Amino acid sequence: MADLQAFMAQQQSRTSKRLLDSLSGEFISPNATEADNQLLDAMRYSLLNGGKRIRPVLVTAAAHALAEPNAATDTYAAAIECIHAYSLIHDDLPAMDNDKLRRGKPTCHIAFGEATAILAGDALQCHAFELITSNNDIGSAQAIAALKVLAEASGAKGMVLGQAIDLASVEKALALQQLQLMHHHKTGALIEASVVLGGISVNASDEQLRKLKVYAKAIGLAFQVKDDILDVTADTATLGKQQGADAERNKPTYVSLLGLEGAIEKAQALRNEALEALSPFNQGARYLRQLAHYIVDRDH
Ligand code: IPE
Ligand code: IPE
Ligand code: MG
Ligand code: MG
Ligand code: MG
Repeated sequence: MADLQAFMAQQQSRTSKRLLDSLSGEFISPNATEADNQLLDAMRYSLLNGGKRIRPVLVTAAAHALAEPNAATDTYAAAIECIHAYSLIHDDLPAMDNDKLRRGKPTCHIAFGEATAILAGDALQCHAFELITSNNDIGSAQAIAALKVLAEASGAKGMVLGQAIDLASVEKALALQQLQLMHHHKTGALIEASVVLGGISVNASDEQLRKLKVYAKAIGLAFQVKDDILDVTADTATLGKQQGADAERNKPTYVSLLGLEGAIEKAQALRNEALEALSPFNQGARYLRQLAHYIVDRDH
């Protein structure tokens, strides 16, 4: 997997640089010193404090499956990471998962207070869309298509719906189908959008996008199944977030429903499904293939 490691490292630093650049200059209020700007500090804290950057990597890997990634690919990669960072800030709030540790550091609301954390999440969400609308390299037709994908995956048809189902399911025993629906929305939606945005950035055909979506649906679900598994099997230091948090809160997860072995088998079956969907693609899709393995084998 040396190939994937190098690709990921390159994409992680590209995305971090892009995000850092995007939050400087015009964003600094003329009346506040940079150090005083709590909101901006909180946004940077949650965007730039680590994270695997799996969604930006997926955007670029999906583009790479079809053509050379380009400026639009980079912009979509940065945009989806803003949505992801916002979702994590809000996910950790006391009203939601009430978590204190994220990426080995205090969660945003612990570091900056709840009000600033809520606002930083709100602002990061808008920032994602602004990154796309302010890039003149992206033609208007493509920008509208990308904005539609991002909006649908983020909102009440996508991630936010999944989070609502998640919170309504605490202390409840969900049927497997309901659990899958929740996971597909809360985590799968942004993963699928990442892959689709990568395709859009290199003008993928409808048929290519259809195949990419089958892959993305499977790895999107696998990603959250593995997240559930790691909550049980990993340690807090490796995870960078509190181990055992799901069980503590009686959250329905793949492990609580299928047992550890059952959840592991499910993740592996989904990986195989994802790999199968890539069979029509050539060597350009190798990063997508390696990512399917990475998502299931990762330790944090
Ligand atoms: C965690 O996402 C939340 C889920 C959707 C499961 P990641 O595991 O991608 O978190 P970071 O960005 O690497 O910290
Ligand atoms: C989070 O799921 C999904 C989103 C943030 C949309 P979890 O609540 O399982 O994520 P972690 O375990 O806190 O990272
Ligand atoms: Mg949650
Ligand atoms: Mg959580
Ligand atoms: Mg989790």
